[in-house]
Formats: sequence, structure tokens, C-alpha cells
Amino acid sequence: MVGSDTSPMEPIGTGPSGDARAAIEDFYVEERTFPPPASFGAGALATTRELYDAAEADLEGFWAKQAESLVDWFEPWERVLVWDPPFAKWFEGGKLNVSYNCLDRHLREGRGDRVAYYFEGEPGDRRVITYAELAVEVNRFANVLKDLGVNKGDKVAVYMGMIPELPVAILACARIGAPHSVVFGGFSSKALESRILDAEAKVVVTADGSWRRGNPVRLKEGVDAALENTPSVEHVVVVRRIGEEGGVQVSMKPGRDLWWHDLMASAGTECAPELMDSEDLLYLLYTSGTTARPKGIMHTTGGYLTQVAFTHKYVFDLHPETDVYWCAADIGWVTGHSYIVYGPLANGATSVLYEGTPDYPDKDRWWDIIERYKVTILYCAPTGIRTFMKWGTVYPEKHDLSSLRVLGSVGEPINPEAWIWYYEHIGGSRCPVVDTWWQTETGSIMVSPLPGLSVLKPGSAVEALPGVRGEVVDDEGRVLTRGGGYFTLTHPWPAMLRGIYGDPERYKETYWTRFPGRYFAGDGAKVDGDGYIWFIGRVDDVMNVSGHRVSTTEVESALVDHPSVAEAAVVGANDPTTGQAIVAFVTLRSGEEKAGARGEELRAHVAMRIGPIARPKTIIFTDELPKTRSGKIMRRLLRDVADGHDLGDTTTLADPEVVDQIRTMAEERLFAED
Ligand code: WTA
Repeated sequence: MVGSDTSPMEPIGTGPSGDARAAIEDFYVEERTFPPPASFGAGALATTRELYDAAEADLEGFWAKQAESLVDWFEPWERVLVWDPPFAKWFEGGKLNVSYNCLDRHLREGRGDRVAYYFEGEPGDRRVITYAELAVEVNRFANVLKDLGVNKGDKVAVYMGMIPELPVAILACARIGAPHSVVFGGFSSKALESRILDAEAKVVVTADGSWRRGNPVRLKEGVDAALENTPSVEHVVVVRRIGEEGGVQVSMKPGRDLWWHDLMASAGTECAPELMDSEDLLYLLYTSGTTARPKGIMHTTGGYLTQVAFTHKYVFDLHPETDVYWCAADIGWVTGHSYIVYGPLANGATSVLYEGTPDYPDKDRWWDIIERYKVTILYCAPTGIRTFMKWGTVYPEKHDLSSLRVLGSVGEPINPEAWIWYYEHIGGSRCPVVDTWWQTETGSIMVSPLPGLSVLKPGSAVEALPGVRGEVVDDEGRVLTRGGGYFTLTHPWPAMLRGIYGDPERYKETYWTRFPGRYFAGDGAKVDGDGYIWFIGRVDDVMNVSGHRVSTTEVESALVDHPSVAEAAVVGANDPTTGQAIVAFVTLRSGEEKAGARGEELRAHVAMRIGPIARPKTIIFTDELPKTRSGKIMRRLLRDVADGHDLGDTTTLADPEVVDQIRTMAEERLFAED
């Protein structure tokens, strides 16, 4: 049982389960453990294993109970689960409306004056939006959409920055039963075009631009380019965020393009919520693929809302009357859908919504926001944490962060050293860190500690949440109770994807064929002797070095464990002798010298921490690592750099200049070294 036994894990080995054999070798040993701080325990929502036990005894009964207590239904469901593998229906026959649950319910129950969002614009403009005010805006925009001819089932594409009009737009879609497809504002017009085409969107909601590091990102221009080839789009609604005084002039196509403020001024403030079936489509969210056709992940209504509300409540130990919650993701990603909009609003939480980057106007912007709004729960990505480590502790130290009580992490494996840094320097060693594993496809957090209960190990997501059944298996699909393999889910869950839009075959093939009867979406994980789960990256991020399958994450963690290193990305480059050779791209903490001896020191450190097999052959120092806009390190690109290949599409890069720098350095180093 996870959560009570704190004996250190032993290094390598497979479980006692018959013939199961570790599929990925398990080298990295983390021995530190953190029980819930005494100050935290007493008031926590979950301090015993009651929820786990209830779900274990009767999984469907457990979810039915959550659906009843967390969601308001207009009509009850007939069956909790209909499972026709791999197609699931949850709460079939039940009727509800998601925007009703996020807004009207709170007004009805006297919570209209509670703050829904503290909006903080990048230039420093601020808005406080209560539930009552948010409801008015949503009703208005729902009427606007209806007036533009958007009917139940029509798709609406949304391409905006992080401004309050973004949650307003998607809640308005939910209100009238028009599925939304949010396309992250950092994507190119080509990416927008392919997503509009796939969904056949009827309306696009956008803004003239969005502030990013003091400069406007011209969104409407991107829409104009995308719309040259998208016949389904009848109207474009444009929010004026930047304005001409901010340097953005947009061209409005007569008859097609309309200003948000003009339409809202004359729209009625009441729009009855559409009666939606539990299995009606709530939204599409495309997962980015650079070459293949993007996959439109389908999420439906009742099961999704139930599980995001449940996880938001228990994983963050939400006390909605007193907490100020901040998920610093972008609504363009699933994290923002589930944990900036739907989960928090369903639970009546007060959230921060921040438009810009962490380093504008200076590198303490986040800590300033936390101090200003007395944020109690922070949810962000390891890439952010490692960047803050690189910048140094002077920035958080300038601010009072004592309001914080829970810290969350999502999106990538969090290296133990980054975890410890987050725990100590941001959380003041008093806030549990919840490392939450999930995916666009899962819709909701699936594996995570519970902060009032779990004994934490830095770098481990601990165990499947109540109501989730996860197992690590070997190459043949045999269950591993110890060692490294593939993370799979064995039972449908309420927020699971219902398919890939327009392509049921691709859905089956992508997620359900590698291990029959199991959902598998590409993540490697290991289980330790205490049953803790450690995610070790995508399985295509496993290197094969002289026949040993070594996880890139483990080598990265060993590098970040060195006091000089802020961030590391490790890839396997083709090598005639060893199959693959380990190449590490490393950024050092501020003020650290990239002296020649450093490489040798780091190589020795990895060998000491993991073993000689994991010693990187080459270390390349770089100021930045290439990342997607959601903050994931682009290992594919680094692999190409390491292999000396031409680089493919890099439009999703945060900073394309990095690539050139890395490429040049890689060329200089790789061929000089052996
Ligand atoms: C990775 C983001 C390790 C994983 C919610 C997954 C993680 C992919 C974690 C999904 C975590 C997410 N530990 N890896 N806590 N959380 N991942 O669809 O590889 O943007 O498959 O969803 O991110 O990314 P997506």
C-alpha cells in the first residue's frame, strides 16, 4: 500500500509476478520521503484511505456518488457505465449543462459575489470578476453566438490569449451546446487552419492580439491567413485586447468579421442553458503533431465534469471559501480546460488568470502575483520550475509567499532536484507537492498523491487516484509489481476521451492495440518496492545503450541533481558501437561557468548517481533548451541535432533562435568528440 511504508526503494528488479520482466531498466534511486506536514493534515479533505477503499469496492458506485454530489443534473442517468470496448458511455441518459454547473448553480446557492477570476493582464491591468459578473458575460455571449446562427452541435474555434473573454467564450459554447475547439494562441495559422478544417468550425472567436513579453502577438492576422482555405467559417468575432494604441491594426472583412464589444453591447443577458445529454460532445482539443494529421480528442459532458471536479477538489485539497487557486497553464492546453475553467468553476473556486510570461517586466512576476492575491494553491509545469531554478532564489525571496499551502506539477516528469527546489524555495518546506500525471486524452488527473494523506517521494506521482485503475506492464503486457515498463489503464474512467474526431479506427489503433484490453498512450513508468509509480517519459524517449534500455528522464534527473545544473535534456544519438550514445544538452544555473572541466565533472556525477552505463558520451552546454509552447522539451529535434539531420517543422518552438545555437554547438562538439 502506498502512503504509509517509507522504506527506501531498491535499485533494480522485477516483481514477483511470474515471468514479468522489466522493460525499461531502473537505475535512479531516490530515498527522500516527505509525509504530509503536521500543519497541513488536520483540515485536509482526505486524510484516510476511505475514498480509495470505496472505489476499490465498487468503482461504478463510487463515480455515481461523485457525480451526484459534485454535479447538478436536470434529469438523472439510467446507467452509470456502458462499456463496449474501447468505447465508453458514462451516466447515459443523464441531462445537464456544464455552464449551468459552473455559474447558475453558484448564483442560486448564494455565491454570486464570490470572485471567479482575478485577471492580471501582462501590462499590469487588472480585473476582478465575480461569479455573478461572469454569468452575465457568458449569457450575453451565448446569445451572440445564437444570433450568429450557431446551433447545438455546431463547432466554434477559439484562438485567443489568456484574457477573461476566453473562458467566457467557451462557457457560452457549453451553454448552447456548441462544442468548442480551442487552438493555442502560440500556434501558427497553418495549425489553426488544419484544426478549423477538421472540425468544420462555423465561427472563430479571436482577439486582435495578445500580450507576450511586452509585445503584441497578432492573432487576428493569423486567423485571416487560416481562413483563406476554410469554407465552413461564416463569422469571426474579434476581441479588442491590444488596440491601435498598442500598435495593432486589424482589417475587418465586411459581413464576416465582427467586434466582440459591438455584439455584446446589444446582446440579452439571459440565455437558457441547453439541456445536454451526458454523452454530448463538450469540446474537441487537438493534440499537436508536427507531421501527421492532428488528432481531435473528443471530450463529452457528464463524466468529464464529474472527474475534473472530483480531482480538482481532492488533489488540491480545495477549500473554495478560502483558497485562491492559480493554475499557470494556458487555456489552449488541456490543463487549462480542466483546471482553469471547468474544474475550478464547477467547484466554485476563486482563481487567478494571468495573461503573460513569468519574466515580464521582471523575473519575479509570478511571485508578485502570488503575494498580491495571496495565492494558496499553485499548479504549474516542471519546465517553469527549472527555469526559476536557473534564475536563482533572489526572485522568489523578494516576495511573501507564505499564503501558499499546496503546490502542483504537471506536464512532464519532475526531476527530484526540481521538486526539492520547488518544495523548499517556493513552498517554504510546508506545502505538499502534488505531481499529477495525465494527458489530453485522459481529460483529468489520473495518478497523483493526495496532499493530506500521501507520503511523498520527490519525482514520483505516487499512485492512481481513487476510481482510476492503472498498471505498469512489461513488453508482453504482464503486470510488473516492481521495475520499469509501460503505464496502462485497465478500466474506463469518466473523463476519458470518447475518440478521435471523425476517426474511430485511429482511436482504436492509437490507444488500444499495443496491449489488448488496456489503454496505453506512450508513457514509460516504473514501480518501486513500495508500489510508488515513477513516470519516466514517453517510451520513444528510452535509449538503447549497449543493449540497456535507459530512460532519458533518469539521466536528466541525475544531471539536474548536480548543484550547477538548472536543466538538462538527454537524447540517444545513433552510435555504431553502442547502438545509441547518450547526448546531454545542459543549461547551467545563473552565474555558473561553462568551463571545459564541467563536462567531465557532470559525466562523473551521472556515473556516480546512476552507473557508468548512463554516463553521457557528449555534453553540450546551451543557454536555453528548445521547447514546445506548452513547455515540453523537443527531444525529437534534439535527437535530430544529435544525429546531424535536417530539422523539420519548428513552428511550435518557444524560441527558434535556440535551435540554431544548439545546432551550431552540436556540430562543433559532436564531430570533435569521441
Ligand atoms: C507527460 C498534459 C510525467 C506524459 C496534462 C503525458 C507527465 C503527456 C506528467 C501528456 C507527470 C504529463 N509526470 N509525465 N506528472 N504529466 N506528463 O496531453 O508524457 O499535454 O503522456 O497533457 O505529458 O501531455 P498533454
